[in-house]
Amino acid sequence: MKLLFVALFFSLNANAFTLSPESKQKALEQLKKLTLKQKIAQMTQAERQHATPEQVKKYGLGSILSGGGSNPTPNTPKAWKEMVKNYYDQSMGSAAKIPLIYGVDAVHGHNNVLGATIFPHNIGLGVANDLELTKKMGEIVAQEMKATGIYWNFAPTTAIAMDKRWGRFYESFSNNTKKVTELSIAYMLGLQKEGVLATPKHYLGDGGTEFGHDRGDTILSEEEIRKIHLPPYIEAIKKGALSIMVSFSSINGQKMHGHKYWITDVLKNELGFSGFTVSDWNGIEELDGDYKEQIKKSVNAGIDLFMVPERWLEFMTLLEELVSEGKVSLKRIDDAVYRLLAVKYEMGLFNLSFEDNESFGTNEHRAIADTLAKKSVVIKNKEGLLNLKNKRILLTGKAANNTGYQCGGWTVEWQGLKENVPGATSLFDSLKTQGADVTYISTDRLTTIDPSKFDIAITAMGENPYTEMMGDIVMNEYPYPDRTPYGFTLDYYSLHPEDKKVIASLKRLNLPIVSVIYSGRELDFDTLYSDSLSTVLAWLPGSETRGLAELILGMK
Ligand code: GLC
Repeated sequence: MKLLFVALFFSLNANAFTLSPESKQKALEQLKKLTLKQKIAQMTQAERQHATPEQVKKYGLGSILSGGGSNPTPNTPKAWKEMVKNYYDQSMGSAAKIPLIYGVDAVHGHNNVLGATIFPHNIGLGVANDLELTKKMGEIVAQEMKATGIYWNFAPTTAIAMDKRWGRFYESFSNNTKKVTELSIAYMLGLQKEGVLATPKHYLGDGGTEFGHDRGDTILSEEEIRKIHLPPYIEAIKKGALSIMVSFSSINGQKMHGHKYWITDVLKNELGFSGFTVSDWNGIEELDGDYKEQIKKSVNAGIDLFMVPERWLEFMTLLEELVSEGKVSLKRIDDAVYRLLAVKYEMGLFNLSFEDNESFGTNEHRAIADTLAKKSVVIKNKEGLLNLKNKRILLTGKAANNTGYQCGGWTVEWQGLKENVPGATSLFDSLKTQGADVTYISTDRLTTIDPSKFDIAITAMGENPYTEMMGDIVMNEYPYPDRTPYGFTLDYYSLHPEDKKVIASLKRLNLPIVSVIYSGRELDFDTLYSDSLSTVLAWLPGSETRGLAELILGMK
């Protein structure tokens, strides 16, 4: 057994990125050739809808991203690769001839792209807790990213989520620091084994905010911060992390995007992080002051690359002014640009080939996702599922034949889909494939059926897809001036009266009920548990449900 553990440990540690002396030397040499404008352009990341490939060439931008759902038309791997290659080629045609790096949120698969393999969200991976398969997931996601010409993933999320009212609870592997560290490293190593840059995020303490408020305030002593939230970054740096994203949230009232102590003094100096930090989406605008003041604070805090999707030209102009006014030192600019260049050299971006014909959305990839999904399931009262395979099943519920719910947020669109996700398999499809005697009845027809034709009812329901603050459950006084949170209670039936109604209809039919729940957290399900013979918590399993169906049918 010990030998196996040692083998596992070394297999997980293989293939980490490290900045070689050659990459460092090339970066230093390249840095010397750059003008201030070119340096500042390297520190600038625009969003694809707000910067054309021609502007990348004209201004020499260092990076482009696709925000969630920012997809080319058609949304195919081929179209993605053509788009990314065009941006790349234009960057190589710029005066400085420095390749841009294109980033996406492939948080549970290359999830923007139609037909991608969609894995369970991190909450499910935390339950499955399989380091080898999570690393394998990283390798597969990287392969599917490379099929579209993309080599930078804004993942893994290393949040230790403490409060299930947080809309990003499902993006966290666990509230246990050790488990989060192990699983995020496994995903990161899988990505980087395939040459895709990972991005542990969001530094620091994003999962510890008061009331679980997204972008809120984590109020802890420094000792507690270091004990609970810092370990994943310490380990990630040791294992080769070369990009880290800064959090929107605050620590003890100070916004992370302006937090010099944690970004420069701790992350870079104390922990020796030699890669680059990247801001979050307009994260610098969380700081006090006008835009120029926000830029000054965030650059001087130690952020190196700025995700300024729309205002990128204004950002570059103001940062140049700040340098000329002596408010941002050239030393700080050179530190940021050196880091960015060294990583680009280490990743081989200067000689990128778009010839990779990596596999995309294959059955082999989906089999791994299915196994992880199956391992993530938690069943209350397994006895209720005995011999289900030999019973006449009535299947209903909003999520039984609609794969948007099982995939959740960050799927095709930023907020996910409430309709079918191309390439995904519904529970109805999987039950049929397993040979079950299953009849799907839509929820609006439950009053029309003859219950004597069935032995048992299965209803697939749960949360509507959400992402980030749109999933916050606000139960404390907190000013949410510009957005409507998911809800104001943790009580499932109050949040989802449509599901409560389905349960009531099934109770009137006097059929035993198996409830299958897709959700990003365990809401207050007590009434559901008492209404159901068995409850199957599947979290957000992604595109594959074969294993889930096997469990429900009592199969191995
Ligand atoms: C979002 C998220 C971050 C993501 C980024 C780019 O606001 O906070 O996790 O990587 O913007 O989509």
